[in-house]
Amino acid sequence: MLKFDNVYFKYDEDNEPMIDGLSFEVDDGDFISVIGASGCGKSTVFRLINGLEKAQRGSISVDGKNIADIKNYSAYMPQKDLLFPWRTIEKNICMPMEIQKINKTEMHEKACEVLKEVGLYEYRDKYPKDLSGGMKQRASFARTLLSGADLMLLDEPFSALDSITRMGLQEWLLDEWQKHKKTVLFVTHDVEEAIFLSKKIFIITDRPVSHFEECKVPLSYPRNRDDMKRSDIGDMKAMLIKKLRQEAAV
Ligand SMILES: Nc1ncnc2c1ncn2[C@@H]1O[C@H](COP(=O)(O)OP(=O)(O)OP(=O)(O)O)[C@@H](O)[C@H]1O
Ligand SMILES: [Mg+2]
Repeated sequence: MLKFDNVYFKYDEDNEPMIDGLSFEVDDGDFISVIGASGCGKSTVFRLINGLEKAQRGSISVDGKNIADIKNYSAYMPQKDLLFPWRTIEKNICMPMEIQKINKTEMHEKACEVLKEVGLYEYRDKYPKDLSGGMKQRASFARTLLSGADLMLLDEPFSALDSITRMGLQEWLLDEWQKHKKTVLFVTHDVEEAIFLSKKIFIITDRPVSHFEECKVPLSYPRNRDDMKRSDIGDMKAMLIKKLRQEAAV
């Protein structure tokens, strides 16, 4: 579904490239987590996918088409929730539909449907300041979902939340993913979260980024928290933490 072919990318102000010769593929319906030390380029990869940055060499394609030639193929939920404080929750989540010039009645209907699904229907006329951190993340997710894109790029969506809220949202996200049959790329620093959510984990271990190490999670869906106690899962967690610590020490 998503394909990077020999991609090279350098920020203008840097001397060294951030990414050099990166190739990878993501299948339709995958749930993939991307992990790696802070500053290794995870958000940069997302910015390249959704066209906020342009690769200087190589190609990035979605469903066989170069991303330069297509629109609305991905929805990006950035690291910080970017809800506009002066817009109500409903008006916030309608933004991608406003951009697509969807008519008002349809927009309202779709927004209400998704607001019910994420448990925020009663809050539709409130402002972001009236919501808890977890609720704001659900609102941000609703907005990402309403962009209609099949490829969702979620950049550390739960990192600012307490662990109990976070666990609830992880389970909720897996339900949503299965219901909507989206393809998800998910950045996290939390190895346990990556294992619990993903089919596969991409690990960034080099600089400039030239490849992802891939690790397949041996669990089926729906997932059960108790599976996290399995010894093979424990070993996987230890292995991933070791890799991240080696990388952070470079
Ligand atoms: N707009 C930019 N212009 C120049 N350099 C940038 C820009 N954005 C990021 N960088 C640099 O690129 C590198 C990778 O940044 P990126 O945000 O992709 O890392 P990350 O893996 O997402 O980190 P974190 O886990 O902390 O979010 C960093 O060294 C950063 O300083
Ligand atoms: Mg980042």
